[in-house]
Amino acid sequence: MENSFSRRDLLAATAAVGLSATGMGSMGVEQGRKLRIMEPKLVHVPTEADIAKALKTAPHGISEATHKAHLGLWQGYANKTNEIRKALAEMEMDPAKANQIYSQIRALKVNYAFAYGGYKNHNVYFDTIGGNGGPATGDVAGLINEAYGSHEAWAKDLKTTGIGARGWVYLAYDHDEERVFNFIGDAQDTFPSWNSTLILALDVYEHAYFLDFQTARAKYIDAYLNVIDWDAVNARLHKGLGK
Ligand SMILES: [Fe+2]
Repeated sequence: MENSFSRRDLLAATAAVGLSATGMGSMGVEQGRKLRIMEPKLVHVPTEADIAKALKTAPHGISEATHKAHLGLWQGYANKTNEIRKALAEMEMDPAKANQIYSQIRALKVNYAFAYGGYKNHNVYFDTIGGNGGPATGDVAGLINEAYGSHEAWAKDLKTTGIGARGWVYLAYDHDEERVFNFIGDAQDTFPSWNSTLILALDVYEHAYFLDFQTARAKYIDAYLNVIDWDAVNARLHKGLGK
């Protein structure tokens, strides 16, 4: 479950210890100190129940053993995201101590991008598998046909892109160009472009397929194409479009 800490909560907390909502408190505590008492908003840590849908894909070639091992990595990104959020909430923000070579803020925020990025990537990966694959459906099918000409041409592009990637392939809707594109993301914290909505994420790190396919990544991508949940992909597109 997610925790949130609103400004109203902050006001209640500061009132409880005799502080004003702005400026110096009656105990002489500075504004920065009050920020550090805020509870960070925490992300949901995935459980076995969260991959139950993905486990249905086992007959298609991606095994239960792979998914269970993968869950541990997914949980790791969630736990580290929360750990860093807590550390940031406790940290004193002092520009004099920040440094681009090494500093606490740099260590936390660079690794935060990796942890939270990995968490989000895997959220989309596990949300958009567990279906019956095959040709795209709904509005996504229309966008794929507009951009690539046909589902087959898109799938060929996805497979080629996947073999050329070091970590991820992202099918994203670019709000500026109003079209979809198969991007490469080489690491958890490399993103294809701003103002795009991620609607499908293909994990091509070896941990996603080595147990089942060893180094044959192309066979894994073939199996992946057979388990895409197009309803989930369309739901992500519609959410991104505000529909
Ligand atoms: Fe992964």
